[in-house]
Formats: sequence, structure tokens, C-alpha cells
Amino acid sequence: MREHGSVSGPARRSTPLRKSGVVRRLDTATGAVTVRVAQGADLETLVRLRVALLREHADSPIYGRLRRDVEDRARLLFTQQIADADEACLIAERDDTAIGCLRVSETRGSPLLLPARYGYVASAYVVPEARGEGVLRTLVDHALSWCRSRGLVEIRLHSDATNGVAAAAWEALGFTVVELLRHRIL
Ligand SMILES: CC(C)(COP(=O)(O)OP(=O)(O)OC[C@H]1O[C@@H](n2cnc3c(N)ncnc32)[C@H](O)[C@@H]1OP(=O)(O)O)[C@@H](O)C(=O)NCCC(=O)NCCS
Repeated sequence: MREHGSVSGPARRSTPLRKSGVVRRLDTATGAVTVRVAQGADLETLVRLRVALLREHADSPIYGRLRRDVEDRARLLFTQQIADADEACLIAERDDTAIGCLRVSETRGSPLLLPARYGYVASAYVVPEARGEGVLRTLVDHALSWCRSRGLVEIRLHSDATNGVAAAAWEALGFTVVELLRHRIL
């Protein structure tokens, strides 16, 4: 089970802000955590955090098959994502050091189904030393606000079926399992 450590009650409050790029703030026992939307200058930070996320899933049949030039490919991909008006790459920081990230995007649904558009969350990662303090919850809080501000009424994500911590976190944050991804190697 996760330990909550010395973080308690009011110290976990997350507040939306409107200044200097910071969109949300969380006060923890080990200092304030701020969340902001990544800009071009954050490219290397995003590469570091999101490749670290993939490397933590080395045993996954999907996320474990990293290309040799993953960092170079990531730079190209994340440059596009940072510039895309239909998504936001969020970065959580403490003492000017990046400790977590999450990407949220507006996605088109099937033309046969409702809703026509929904929010999609991906690349959720918190560095090991900052886990269990509410950083993911704060990133998700902002992703929910971002989706609501666009009139979206649903948010979805994929998570690794073998990752028990991620499953517990998503359940705690109100995301229920509605579908399973099956694969078969040919
Ligand atoms: C999963 C991950 C993002 C959680 O980040 P975090 O900042 O530690 O999560 P939070 O502290 O915001 O916790 C949010 C909720 O998740 C649950 N949770 C978090 N860690 C948990 C753990 N180790 N065991 C059980 N539940 C846990 C808690 O119930 C918590 O709710 P609470 O605040 O009401 O207690 C982090 O562990 C991580 O980066 N893991 C590796 C990458 C990964 O698996 N990403 C998800 C890919 S789908």
C-alpha cells in the first residue's frame, strides 16, 4: 500500500492560478508544486520525463519496445504536440525542477457515436521521489479544467494492464475500466 507520509489535509489543496504561466498549485509538506503548460523551451524536459516513463515499462509488450533513436523521434513528436492548439503538455515543478508531466488532448470520437469529441490523457509520469504527494492528482485536476473549458464532457485514457500502481491511481481519480486492448504477435 502507498504511504501518505507527512502530507496531510490542507497541505494537499490544489489551487487554479492565473499568473506567469502557472495554471495550478499544490502545497505539500516538501514545498509548493506548480503546474504549467509546456512551451518550446521545455522540449528536453519533456523528452527526459516521457522517455523515463517508457523505460519504466520495459516489460510491457507495447511500451517496452523502444526504438534506438527514441529521443530523436520524441523531439520531433513533442515539438508538434507543444505547438498543437488542441492539446496541452503539462509540466509539474518544485523548486524550478520538473517532477512530473501529463498530456491532454481533444480527440474526435467515432462519427457514429456520442460524444463527438472527448478529452484524452496520456504520458502521465511523476518522478519516483515525488510520488504519493498528489502531483498526478494536481495534473489531472488541470486536465479536467482544460477539457471543461472546451465543452468536453468525457475524458479517456489507456493504461498498462500490468501496472498495479497506475490502476490504483486511475481508480482513485475516478477513471473506470470500460474496454480491454488485446494483441496477438504474428
Ligand atoms: C502512477 C503515477 C503517475 C502516480 O503519481 P502520484 O503523483 O504518485 O499520484 P498521486 O500522489 O497524485 O495519487 C493520486 C491517487 O492515486 C492513488 N495512488 C497513488 N500511488 C499509489 C500507490 N503506490 N498505491 C496505491 N494507490 C496509489 C492514491 O489513491 C491517490 O489518491 P489520494 O490522493 O486520494 O490518496 C506515478 O506512480 C508514476 O509516475 N508511475 C510510473 C509511470 C506510470 O505508471 N504512469 C501511468 C501510466 S498509465
